[in-house]
Amino acid sequence: MLIREAAAGDWPRIWPFWHRIVAAGETYTWDPDTDEEAARALWMAPAKRVYVAEDDSGGIVGSAFVTPNYGGPAARIANAGFMVDPDRAGRGVGRALAEHILASAEAEGYRGMVFNAVVETNPAVRLWMSLGFTIVGTIPEAYDHPRFGAVGLHVMYRAL
Ligand SMILES: CC(C)(COP(=O)(O)OP(=O)(O)OC[C@H]1O[C@@H](n2cnc3c(N)ncnc32)[C@H](O)[C@@H]1OP(=O)(O)O)[C@@H](O)C(=O)NCCC(=O)NCCS
Repeated sequence: MLIREAAAGDWPRIWPFWHRIVAAGETYTWDPDTDEEAARALWMAPAKRVYVAEDDSGGIVGSAFVTPNYGGPAARIANAGFMVDPDRAGRGVGRALAEHILASAEAEGYRGMVFNAVVETNPAVRLWMSLGFTIVGTIPEAYDHPRFGAVGLHVMYRAL
């Protein structure tokens, strides 16, 4: 697997799994009905450094971004987002993307990384904790999960 910076032309191969994940409404705070142009503006925004994971045949199996979470004097705290094609989940792509992003963010001079809204029922919580993130706090019953009802949103942080 290769992890590289995304090019604008990669978007059509990110969109199908982006759409599937957001439409499911279980992990992100974006509108499940977000259309392709709005999705591209969110994921490929100029302020974001976007990466893709390619399998051995050149297929894009996941994507991630890093961006400043705050501005001004706090701009060295990063935010990041991760998506792995659900058909390719559970095979180490997410962990590899996360390790790559953490190393890249540190090399770029970020001092820490924060996730603003991790749905508490998301199995990814375990992945983030295994990578050294801690739960700073939880916004109770903030997220209407289609299967579990109102669940909390964790703010998670790791120093770099
Ligand atoms: C979260 C996500 C990026 C993880 O990617 P992945 O390629 O499936 O994860 P990996 O195969 O690298 O697994 C990493 C670890 O997470 C755990 N994990 C990931 N998905 C899991 C699931 N659905 N159920 C149980 N455990 C899971 C595994 O225990 C694994 O641990 P290990 O490395 O010790 O075996 C991916 O599932 C995804 O895109 N989910 C939807 C979007 C999302 O939730 N993004 C993160 C928002 S905070």
